Amino acid sequence: MKEELDNILKEAQEVKNNIKNLQDLENFRIKFLGKKGLLKKILEKIIELPENERRESGAYFNFVKDEIEKIYEELKKKLESKQFVKFDIHHPGRKIEKGHLHILTQAIDKIVNIFSKMGFDLELGIEIVTEYENFDSLNMPQDHPSRDMWDTLWIKSDKQRLLLRTHTSAHQVEILKNRNIPLKVIIPGKVYRHEATDSRHEMQFHQLEGLAVGESCNLQELKGVFYIFFEEFFGRKLDIIFRTSYFPFTEPSLEVDIECILCNGKGCEVCKNTGYLEVAGAGMIHPFVLKQAMIDTNKYYGYAFGLGIERLVMLKYNIPDVRLFHSGDLRFIRQF
Ligand code: PHE
Repeated sequence: MKEELDNILKEAQEVKNNIKNLQDLENFRIKFLGKKGLLKKILEKIIELPENERRESGAYFNFVKDEIEKIYEELKKKLESKQFVKFDIHHPGRKIEKGHLHILTQAIDKIVNIFSKMGFDLELGIEIVTEYENFDSLNMPQDHPSRDMWDTLWIKSDKQRLLLRTHTSAHQVEILKNRNIPLKVIIPGKVYRHEATDSRHEMQFHQLEGLAVGESCNLQELKGVFYIFFEEFFGRKLDIIFRTSYFPFTEPSLEVDIECILCNGKGCEVCKNTGYLEVAGAGMIHPFVLKQAMIDTNKYYGYAFGLGIERLVMLKYNIPDVRLFHSGDLRFIRQF
């Protein structure tokens, strides 16, 4: 009996190598483990044996049966996992979620594009600047009260005093020094202010600095640049007010208000019923600043402006709270 069982096991081990698919495996099962299979047949014989022989053969039968079942299970696992790799090429693939540029990045791209069509080159500054760059070079010596217009975040440092730029004007002198005149440049970037936040104020926001120097730069040209820019950015002609103002680094200085897009100048909550919204500071570059860059102030003139980018985007898309931009809230981000 043992010999017969050994033969069956041997056969099963040989046949095993020829099993290539689930159909082969099923034939294997029927042949060895099936109701009318080889093992079943031999079991019937074992049952007929006298008691003492039966016990011994029965134990050996169980061993062989276990071995064959193991072969079967092993093959089944292998073939089914192969089966899994087979896939239907017509089945639609899993959708990959695609990200997109943040609305501020999109807006900056668009703004840069509009200015580049008017001949402005792009410059990028870094966010940590010296006290000289942010203030002194712009006609604001230490203890000058105008410094209070920008609540500053200072950086601990041993040598020179460093800070997070409070405005992109911090790059004016460096650029005036490094570039040939005439020049027309824009500098977009993030700026920081030590401020309590609310729906219209954030500690970090973006500005776009504009700088033009040449023999014939004047306020008229500056106004023209604004008219073209706003029309392109908002897609229609807007009423613009140029108000006289004060900045230590421009003379004369202007504040630029545009017709409130939300109420078409009629007056609403956002424009505090004035019908206009302030979106930029500007002016003719102060001779003090030009002199910092060794520019001949008898020959050359320049104008500069600083646009608040979040403000423009809020107006364009009717966004009620500036804090949404940096909130990381996908419900907001996915809308653009
Ligand atoms: N830097 C000024 C601000 O942050 C804006 C400005 C830029 C004004 C250039 C005049 C000229 O408020």
